[in-house]
Amino acid sequence: LRVLVCVSGGGTNLQAIIDGVEAGTITNTEIVGVISNNKNAFALERAKKHGISAECISPKDYESRDIFNKQFLERVNAYKPDLIVLAGFLVVIPPEMIAEYRNRMINIHPSLIPAFCGTGYYGLKVHEAALKRGVKVVGATVHFVDEGTDTGPIILQKAVEVQNGDTPEILQKRVMEQAEWKIMPEAIDLIANGKVTVEDGRTVICD
Ligand code: GRF
Repeated sequence: LRVLVCVSGGGTNLQAIIDGVEAGTITNTEIVGVISNNKNAFALERAKKHGISAECISPKDYESRDIFNKQFLERVNAYKPDLIVLAGFLVVIPPEMIAEYRNRMINIHPSLIPAFCGTGYYGLKVHEAALKRGVKVVGATVHFVDEGTDTGPIILQKAVEVQNGDTPEILQKRVMEQAEWKIMPEAIDLIANGKVTVEDGRTVICD
């Protein structure tokens, strides 16, 4: 499976994917490239360190979003990916790209969707909202990307307990370590082995 990873920040999910491929826990998979909208993203360093093609493209460098969208999709298609992975990618995906890669583009969100998701719920804001609501269980979700925000068919979810004294930062770290970095590699391995199908807007996972 040719996987292209889109990033904007630290790249710890990218690192989990790189480690999984190198350890053989993610099978039949090659990371063919990494694209970031942030030239300072540490994720780019992680890619380069592992000899993975890495490039930067930002809407800020284009006079209009339409021109960026066209150029971004051209750059993506140049990698001939079988799967696009959004790992903390903070750029709105062009509608034409969502259509072209329907059920071939996944995203990770740091909550148990449909809780604490949608516009405005990203990064620490997700965990702040969870603590404010006083939920006892949080987690992460990997889902296919559709036209909405965090609304596509859910592939995998993993729950994490909230503990007394948790701050948003502590909770975020636990969700990443115990949920994100596990279900992201697992989802890619399932897809690489043809074990995920979508029926009537919901996924079916073959065991
Ligand atoms: C993660 O918390 C992920 O759930 C969210 O953005 C963050 C990306 O972190 N989509 P990293 O760049 O993978 O470290």
